Amino acid sequence: MKRLDGKVALVTGGAQGMGASHARAIVQNGGCVVIGDVDDKRGMSLVEDLGNHARYIHLDVRINADWAGAIEYAESEFGRLNVLVNNAGVLKDAGVTDCTDAEWDLVMGINLTGAFRGIRAAVSSLARSAPSSIINVSSTAGLKGFSGFAAYGASKWGIRGLTKNAAIELAPRGIRVNSIHPGTIKTQMNDGHEISFDHVPQARAGDPSEVSNLVVFLASDESSFSTGSEFAADGGEAAGLPGTTRRTGISSLREDKPSRKVWLTSNCEPQE
Ligand SMILES: NC(=O)c1ccc[n+]([C@@H]2O[C@H](COP(=O)([O-])OP(=O)(O)OC[C@H]3O[C@@H](n4cnc5c(N)ncnc54)[C@H](O)[C@@H]3O)[C@@H](O)[C@H]2O)c1
Repeated sequence: MKRLDGKVALVTGGAQGMGASHARAIVQNGGCVVIGDVDDKRGMSLVEDLGNHARYIHLDVRINADWAGAIEYAESEFGRLNVLVNNAGVLKDAGVTDCTDAEWDLVMGINLTGAFRGIRAAVSSLARSAPSSIINVSSTAGLKGFSGFAAYGASKWGIRGLTKNAAIELAPRGIRVNSIHPGTIKTQMNDGHEISFDHVPQARAGDPSEVSNLVVFLASDESSFSTGSEFAADGGEAAGLPGTTRRTGISSLREDKPSRKVWLTSNCEPQE
């Protein structure tokens, strides 16, 4: 008996990065997975690699019709849906005073509203196949403040709040809802960022598989008494070790704009 036997998961943003790692871990642990993403090429290629327990569907988390299609597809391919991993996310390097309306709307629309739409769309199916689990991907940016990521931080705190409300409402229907809070993880989201780890007790970035271990636990019935909670996989970042250095050289995610300096912690001195 494997840990996720009988579990059917939908993982958003599963074509690459942590979502791909979660999908792989779900299959390795005996579950079935539907990967939803906007990157069809990568998503299709991943499911070919994962084999018969994996499917891909185009799912833009901002679009209600895509959500309905993805849930129907999971049920028709695998007979049920009992795990939803709201993982899709984007990051924009823009602080409170320079974040544009478009940047704000994009980040909130995908990271927060996308998860809300997903929960709303999936609830009936999850309740039918309970016990079920919703795993909302927040961040250490949903546990503390940063400089330079206004919309991202707000969206990740929002995910945490949404999780608590959903957990309270959905417990009677057999659905647990938790948030996970990765620290800095080696994925494309961090490409081009120079990151210091002096505020991280373990002084390193995490591997996606270290977060997937948490996802497998929360997806499985091993976590049957956990709901409405926060689970960090962050090398101790949220423990409060003060950082002294800054994060610089940000460029790759905003090729259209000049590099800007962004600080990881609130107690460090900006430097030119
Ligand atoms: N990498 C980190 O250090 C880190 C830390 C904490 C939290 N997170 C969070 O973890 C999650 C995964 O991050 P990652 O590092 O793997 O990112 P990534 O950039 O490697 O992958 C993100 C995936 O989301 C997909 N996506 C983007 N917009 C979408 C949309 N509208 N609908 C569906 N899919 C969409 C992308 O195509 C991509 O496959 C995100 O929510 C992110 O905010 C990342």
